[in-house]
Amino acid sequence: MKDKPLVIVTRRLPEGIEARLSELFGARLNLDDTPMDATALKAAVKSATVLVPTVTDKVGTEIIEAAGPQLKLIANFGVGFNHIDVKTARVRGIAVTNTPGVLTDATADITMTLLLMVTRRAVEGSDVLRSGKFGGWNPTWMMGVGLRGRTLGIVGMGRIGEAVAQRSRAFGMNIHYHNRKRAAAEVERELGATYWPDLDRMIPEMDVVSINCPSTPETYHLMSAERIGRMKRSAYLINSARGDIVDEAALAEALDRGAIAGAGLDVFEKEPKVEPKLLAQKNAVLLPHLGSSTIEARTGMGEKVIANILAFSGGQRPPDLVTS
Ligand code: DGY
Repeated sequence: MKDKPLVIVTRRLPEGIEARLSELFGARLNLDDTPMDATALKAAVKSATVLVPTVTDKVGTEIIEAAGPQLKLIANFGVGFNHIDVKTARVRGIAVTNTPGVLTDATADITMTLLLMVTRRAVEGSDVLRSGKFGGWNPTWMMGVGLRGRTLGIVGMGRIGEAVAQRSRAFGMNIHYHNRKRAAAEVERELGATYWPDLDRMIPEMDVVSINCPSTPETYHLMSAERIGRMKRSAYLINSARGDIVDEAALAEALDRGAIAGAGLDVFEKEPKVEPKLLAQKNAVLLPHLGSSTIEARTGMGEKVIANILAFSGGQRPPDLVTS
């Protein structure tokens, strides 16, 4: 590409990243940060050479089919790309990239935050204190459960799953995992991890189940009512991956019946909407999709977007191509 490509960015990105995008390319920024609806996205793909969307943009079949022939690259700001119809993009000869690696620590940290908050009843405790009902230290009040010696079942042993395993091991947990592919022997050894090829056999043995796999048609409602029903009554479910991997209504119902001990969620099926029944559960710790929200991760994500556009516009294979 000889001329500077028109790069349309759908949301505000960290300041330094926006400045570099403007310097390097003909960037059109979204200065008021209003999420783009289908009409705005269709207009964008009709003129952009590169679209930089985020998880809040539904870049589905209809949007990609509306793209003009000048659209060559969708450089997603984020590692998960389930909001983009990659198949149609591939057919249309539009490359898609993402931002893996740079948000691994931040997402593993938020997973641990959820795990600790739910097992130690941090939100419940904080609510009592703020409502002026803290009557002083009490030997039998507000007891949670400790992590040492508990079993953790990680569903999806990719980068983030491994980072969760490392952290949880430091807390004394016993690591188990389910993944399509078994991890390398040295990874299993280093993490002391036990592989379960059959998710249905792993779930009933776990004190905590942590969802760390991508959202794909195969993982939709992977944690179905039936699988949630297989969990121990004393177990916790953590999800920092994507909302639609868990059947949210079934989870709310299980929490309500006391069928499991608690849940920690950073992601929701219909974000930004949250199943009202979940909001009503005391034993659900709910965060507003904060997984990658550290300055380090968000800056790293922006740098990856820039590197992908630079490689692509220089005629090279972008480092994080998902349409290979
Ligand atoms: C990711 O990168 O997938 C985060 O969830 C934000 O999109």
